[in-house]
Amino acid sequence: DQQKAFVQCLSNSTSVASNISNIVYPSDNPSFSSILEFSIRNRRFDTPTTPKPLVIVTPHNVSHIQSTVLCAQSHNLQLRVRSGGHDYEGLSYVSPRPFVVLDLIQMSNITVDVSNRTAWVQSGATVGQVYAQVGKSSNTLAFPASVCNTVGIGGIVSGGGYGTLLRYAGLAADHVADVQVVDARGRVRDRASLGEDVFWAIRGGGGNTFGIVVAWKFNLVTVPETVTMFSVTKTLEQGPTKYLAKWQKIADTLPNELLIRIVMYKAVNPVTIAVVFNCLYVGSKDKALSLIQESFPELGVTPEVMFEMTWAQSTIQFAGVNGTTLDSLESRTPVKDVIYFKAKSDYVTKPIPDSAMDGLLKMMMQDGIEQPYVIFTPYGGKMAEIASNSIPFPHREGNLFKIQYLVYWKEDSEEVSNAHMKWIRDVYDYMGSYVSSNPRAAYINYRDLDIGENMNSSTGGNGTTAYQQAKVWGVKYFKGNFERLVKIKTAFDPTNFFSNEQSIPSLGVGK
Ligand code: FDA
Repeated sequence: DQQKAFVQCLSNSTSVASNISNIVYPSDNPSFSSILEFSIRNRRFDTPTTPKPLVIVTPHNVSHIQSTVLCAQSHNLQLRVRSGGHDYEGLSYVSPRPFVVLDLIQMSNITVDVSNRTAWVQSGATVGQVYAQVGKSSNTLAFPASVCNTVGIGGIVSGGGYGTLLRYAGLAADHVADVQVVDARGRVRDRASLGEDVFWAIRGGGGNTFGIVVAWKFNLVTVPETVTMFSVTKTLEQGPTKYLAKWQKIADTLPNELLIRIVMYKAVNPVTIAVVFNCLYVGSKDKALSLIQESFPELGVTPEVMFEMTWAQSTIQFAGVNGTTLDSLESRTPVKDVIYFKAKSDYVTKPIPDSAMDGLLKMMMQDGIEQPYVIFTPYGGKMAEIASNSIPFPHREGNLFKIQYLVYWKEDSEEVSNAHMKWIRDVYDYMGSYVSSNPRAAYINYRDLDIGENMNSSTGGNGTTAYQQAKVWGVKYFKGNFERLVKIKTAFDPTNFFSNEQSIPSLGVGK
């Protein structure tokens, strides 16, 4: 059968054969389930009925990846590549077609070059591992990626990647200087051999679409030795709407060094909504204090709640990691228990009226909804300075902030699951009048299959249907960059070997 033939194909490759028991895990291998589950971050995709791969391959080097690509092609198996496994819809480890998971967990080398301010990072590394290595190498270098430390480099950079430095420095994908990629023909390519079109597409055009990115070379960012963190919480009883209204006026216009990010969640005992203003100032406490007192005096920030530290230390605090040392950032253990969740995103281009904000807070209080979160990430700053076609990620000037809606639940019950899925869809409908439209923009790394799915070669469509279906979600994630992505994909991977429910289609398929 397909599984046996694929394993046989791999064992014919000399580099794999010499170490096959540590690289290739067919579904009947005793370690199969633990390897599969180790990087699953959403229990919605870890149920008895979730489709499982026929084989998991955990390569140790590039030649193992090349062999896996070629064997999957020759046995008509779909390939899903997984780095950190954080995909919101599980696309890195679930497929409707017989498939193989290429899990890059063994490929996480990081080499920081302090004098040239660059780092080579293999895709299987986590963001936290990069932060730790950069922080250990220098107190004045930083890498702008996620807030969360366990996110994988392979996935996050493929879709953009923002963290607390987005207003100061932009996205992770804005800082890619070179790549090492295995293409659909099993060839190892770099920036020069890919050419500038594919190099452009690979920096944010979505994972599992152009090839397997083995490693990335990043330009690191210079930061002062000291940054300042502070945080202020307002609850429903304090009338948070007035603070949110003020925040909407100023958050995108503040100096690039200051980030005020808002996390709203349902707190218990007593039940209320906590509206947390999480702040990072890339500079000293004195400057941070005068800036916040001048721009947002209503928040009531005092010197006692402000803490100076290095940038790397600030990433520990923001991620909520259990620990205080840079080593604690390197853990792959999730900060939050792995439970069920669903998320969606929006972009805001004009302030949301107070009445709508009140309505949103009220929906968060709905009975039976366990853990609702709404997160506002301010734009402006560096995000507005970078052209919207500089890389495929298009959400730049003109955006005040991004919204992420998230809801978690613990119970393994269809009723509970349906109630939470309905809640987040209702919230999204409710917010429709207040957010961007034509297209209603979304962030690809907050993957949401509700906004559209491909009908491509893996689900029975040909190139033409694939394009029409893909355009529905494609313009929401990529706006005007979608068409260029389709052209590049069609030329680079004409048979659409790398694909998933939201990968850029190839117009060549089925013609
Ligand atoms: P995963 O391995 O699931 O991959 C995601 C996608 O990329 C899949 O389609 C996969 O096939 C593909 N892919 C993976 N490796 C690849 C490779 N080497 N080459 C080609 N394709 C590859 N985002 C953000 O910008 N800022 C943040 O702060 C956070 N925080 C956050 C917290 C938590 C708890 C979660 C679950 C997620 C986030 N995210 C985020 C979203 C995150 O950026 C998104 O889920 C990334 O795709 C995750 O990358 P992983 O490698 O972990 O995922």
